[in-house]
Amino acid sequence: MNFHILTLFPDMVMSGLKESITGRAMEKGLININAINIRDFAGNKYGHVDDYTYGGGAGMLMQAEPVYKAYKFVEETVTKPRVLYMTPQGKRFDQKMAEELSKEDDIILLCGHYEGIDERVLDMIVTDHVSIGDFVLTGGELPAMMIADAVSRLVPGVLGSDESAVYESFYDGLLEYPQYTRPEEFMGVKVPEVLLSGHHKNIEKWRHEQALLRTKERRPDLYEKYVKEHDNK
Ligand code: ADE
Repeated sequence: MNFHILTLFPDMVMSGLKESITGRAMEKGLININAINIRDFAGNKYGHVDDYTYGGGAGMLMQAEPVYKAYKFVEETVTKPRVLYMTPQGKRFDQKMAEELSKEDDIILLCGHYEGIDERVLDMIVTDHVSIGDFVLTGGELPAMMIADAVSRLVPGVLGSDESAVYESFYDGLLEYPQYTRPEEFMGVKVPEVLLSGHHKNIEKWRHEQALLRTKERRPDLYEKYVKEHDNK
């Protein structure tokens, strides 16, 4: 799986993703993350890639040409990549989208800055407009990092067998049950008895109940959906 991140801040993106699990996955060659600096494709010696918007209004817009050239630079080396533009005006990113994307060989993540990017180049190259939530960030770098992280962990081999269990609960449509590690007692609070019992059936039952309770309390929308789906079975 190859991620090509088109950005004005390649160091920001790489410094986050080179750590921890994604960093190890890169070292092992399971994923490849390449940040391409759009400024390298500026058509002027000052490295300017933005300009005022036609029609007026506050803020600057990224120009079409450097974005297009950065895209072409990647596109020459890969066949038919999905091009995801990070924007609050996109489809909401979720686990299902992460799963779908994990099957691709190459993904281009396009990060805008300032007030966004000239619409003409977006129309030419973007296959998916993607938002990470209903709020506005200063740029697409954090969303691109989030997506690269969420998709990478679904690539076979990226998570060790210990870690892979962690995502299974979300697949069920429920939030994760609470977990505990040593010591058995912390500031007078004990680990739930059932987890020390060694009785696997009871532990599983307890965890499922806890997942249901937690989901009902924190995400009633997910809980409703879960109950509806499981009533129909
Ligand atoms: N860029 C700025 N805000 C964003 C958001 N919420 N999702 C994706 N890209 C963005």
